[in-house]
Amino acid sequence: MTVVSAPGKVYLFGEHAVVYGEPAVPCAIEKRATVTATPRADDHIRVEARDLSLDGFAVEYAGSPEDRPDIDVSESLIEAAMGYVDAAVRQARDAADEPNAGFDITVESDIPLGAGLGSSAAVVVAGIDAATRALGEPLDRRELADRAYRAEYDVQDGQASRADTFCSTMGGAVRVAGDDCRTLATPKLPFVVGFDGGAGDTGELVAGVRSLRERYDFAADTVAAIGDIVAEGESLLAAADADSEASDALVGELGELMNINHGLLSALGVSSRSLDTMVWAAREAGAAGAKLTGAGGGGCIVALDSTEETKRSLQYTPGCEEAFRARLATEGVRVEEP
Ligand code: PMV
Repeated sequence: MTVVSAPGKVYLFGEHAVVYGEPAVPCAIEKRATVTATPRADDHIRVEARDLSLDGFAVEYAGSPEDRPDIDVSESLIEAAMGYVDAAVRQARDAADEPNAGFDITVESDIPLGAGLGSSAAVVVAGIDAATRALGEPLDRRELADRAYRAEYDVQDGQASRADTFCSTMGGAVRVAGDDCRTLATPKLPFVVGFDGGAGDTGELVAGVRSLRERYDFAADTVAAIGDIVAEGESLLAAADADSEASDALVGELGELMNINHGLLSALGVSSRSLDTMVWAAREAGAAGAKLTGAGGGGCIVALDSTEETKRSLQYTPGCEEAFRARLATEGVRVEEP
């Protein structure tokens, strides 16, 4: 039995634009998916999924997860547990050169699903790492991140950047532009997350931005302007002292860039009433800045506020189901039990 966890993430800047090669800066947060992998004597895969907010389920299959039985749980939980776990197992089998390896897999996650916090990337990263370790073939982190990206790419029909999987593998803040992935030394940032209880459809939202970008030059300029914001944010981070608390001045400047980034995402049609409401509640509570995180359409916002005011205000904001402080996860993928 091998137990591995991997963190979720927020986007400080750059979602959607990263799909077109612009840079993005996601930051890993201390909300984790934990995967347990135990090799089996046969080639079956048995998946058991537990989620904080939903009832769990277990399912076993030998062929394709398409043949799954009818189970009365949320479709998104099944997708997360089946599609992503299956893709992770395929990558692990390939990496270890054991095409018929079977596993009992357990997934436990405290990351809301499909809400812009990188739940699927965390499951895939932890899943591949747990399964390859269980087979005695651990991967180095670069290869793990690459295989996790390929697993997500397969499940999401090519609508995936390397941002989530690289960030979840490495932890901390990272910078991703196309295939160029780097870790960033950053100060600790006071993230606060607001969650509306819903989720957006990433494929549909990415397709919507693509269509706007193809039809209008100004939409293409908007995507490029998001890239400029990221570049600006990166130089602020690079000039700051890594590993200490971010200064108020830095938080203020980053917050301003986050506000502009949210406005541009909104112009590209990926915000929603509940995301905008939470963003404004955070700003009015004194946050230095706030924006949606991830694909949008519903799900989460991220704000910067070192006081308790934003969290408190979000907790009383209609449409916000949950608000929490999210510490930067300096550790990425982590073996919990070898
Ligand atoms: O909602 P998430 O956490 O899956 O993030 C999606 C981010 C996009 O830039 C919209 C797509 C991608 O794969 O980078």
